[in-house]
Amino acid sequence: MDPNASGLVQRLAEAGQSHLLQFWEEMSPEEQADMTSNLQGMDLTEINGFFKKAMETSSSIKQEKMDARIEPVPREVLGSVTRDGDSLKDWEQAGLHCISQNKVAALLLAGGQGTRLGVSYPKGMYDVGLPSHKTLFQIQAERILKLQQLAEQKHNIKCCIPWYIMTSGRTMQSTIDFFSRHNYFGLEEKDVLFFQQGMLPAMDYNGKIILESKGKLSMAPDGNGGLYRSLGNQGIMSDMEQRGIEFIHVYCVDNILVKVADPAFIGFCVQKGADCGAKVVEKSNPTEAVGVVCKVDGRYQVVEYSEITLTTAQKRSDDGRLMFNAGNVANHFFSFSFLKDVVEKHEPQLQHHVAQKKIPFVNEQGQLIKPEKPNGIKMEKFVFDIFQFSKTFVVYEVLREDEFSPLKNADSQEGKDTPTTAKQALMSLHHRWVLNAGGHFIDENRRRMPAIPRDGADVGHTNLKDGTDLPIKCEISPLVSYGGEGLEELIKGRDFHPTLMIDEKGVHELVKNGV
Ligand code: UTP
Repeated sequence: MDPNASGLVQRLAEAGQSHLLQFWEEMSPEEQADMTSNLQGMDLTEINGFFKKAMETSSSIKQEKMDARIEPVPREVLGSVTRDGDSLKDWEQAGLHCISQNKVAALLLAGGQGTRLGVSYPKGMYDVGLPSHKTLFQIQAERILKLQQLAEQKHNIKCCIPWYIMTSGRTMQSTIDFFSRHNYFGLEEKDVLFFQQGMLPAMDYNGKIILESKGKLSMAPDGNGGLYRSLGNQGIMSDMEQRGIEFIHVYCVDNILVKVADPAFIGFCVQKGADCGAKVVEKSNPTEAVGVVCKVDGRYQVVEYSEITLTTAQKRSDDGRLMFNAGNVANHFFSFSFLKDVVEKHEPQLQHHVAQKKIPFVNEQGQLIKPEKPNGIKMEKFVFDIFQFSKTFVVYEVLREDEFSPLKNADSQEGKDTPTTAKQALMSLHHRWVLNAGGHFIDENRRRMPAIPRDGADVGHTNLKDGTDLPIKCEISPLVSYGGEGLEELIKGRDFHPTLMIDEKGVHELVKNGV
């Protein structure tokens, strides 16, 4: 294989990336072939342009300037499960009706690398240690199944929520194999559709593509906003069109509490005539590291916590809540026509953001170096970058404890957003469902446990101190209940020993007397 003859040497020289061939003579024929085909599939001029723009934009962000440009979400575009509780049933019915008409699709963003969690397989395959040992993929699949069933029962008609799953070069095959091994968790194979987002090379601060080994470029997925390009070039928009999809719920793989295709959220957005909607949770304190949905120069946007000053982050409204409190949880509603416009017209205007990372690389001597501080960037688009194009934007506020607990970090790292916190969040939600449906938990002496434990001593046999156990272990299969509904007939007035499991086969107490 001669890189001169194939024109590779010249293309790389023109793009200022000749260093990529510096170990050519040492590469195996397979490595040479892979590198050649990889580089031939890349538009290096475009990639250099992405780098230049991304670096310019990131260096021009000034906190003070942003402070002067942002406004909070106005009340009239906001729906809230707590403050608008009276409308909730209506929204839910409207959403279920759309589902029964086959107008709703779920779209899962699962192309991330999950570096912080640190497993070698896709995050959706992770088992956080629930009594059932269900993975995130299975929980989501079962929520879709249940929702289809609820819509079918209500409207007496068979329906389907197609599930589009975005993966990346690194996660595609293992994701497909996993679903196939598990028989699509009871969903129809034809209604689970996988597609692949793009990848981009990691670059050093001078715009040189980084070599991960002598014969291999360092590549990473192009961010969850890579969605829009891949929707177009992987035929997903046409599939949606053929199926008559009108509304799409887009969400992240790592939120164990996610209400997939949430009928209330969809119903709210549809009733408001929205083309784009964002589900948010209240930001808990001014310094919480979460982006907030707000208006910038009159257009909707997510502003990262690092883009505003502390003074602005601390501002409060008359009701005492933070003024900029609409915490983004990457959970969105799009109308099909809006999405189509984005894919066909606006996508090229979206800019990459710069994520500074520690990227392993081979140096000029051919040694592999694992840097201790950031040495380069990955370029990413974000799924929310398209809010700016919306003409009728709405925001839907939900309770964090009911709907948001992401899995980001490994347990070894302790603290926030770990398998343990995800497991606890789900069991705590299900515990509340049981209490609300009129069930009770009892301890080994058959005493009713307090609904809100006062401290570890109150619940004797469970271990609250090390954070590895919940006060009450309880899991309800999504096949039994999507959002807490339909439980009364099973549990009203009954006493249960934890661990309580409710699934399609019935109600089970897995461990009696705390043994
Ligand atoms: P994160 O930004 O948390 O990234 O993704 P991650 O890959 O899960 O984890 P780290 O940062 O490497 O530790 C939020 C959501 O966006 C998806 C992820 O799969 C997750 O659902 N995502 C992220 C993509 O689909 N593609 C990407 O390129 C990046």
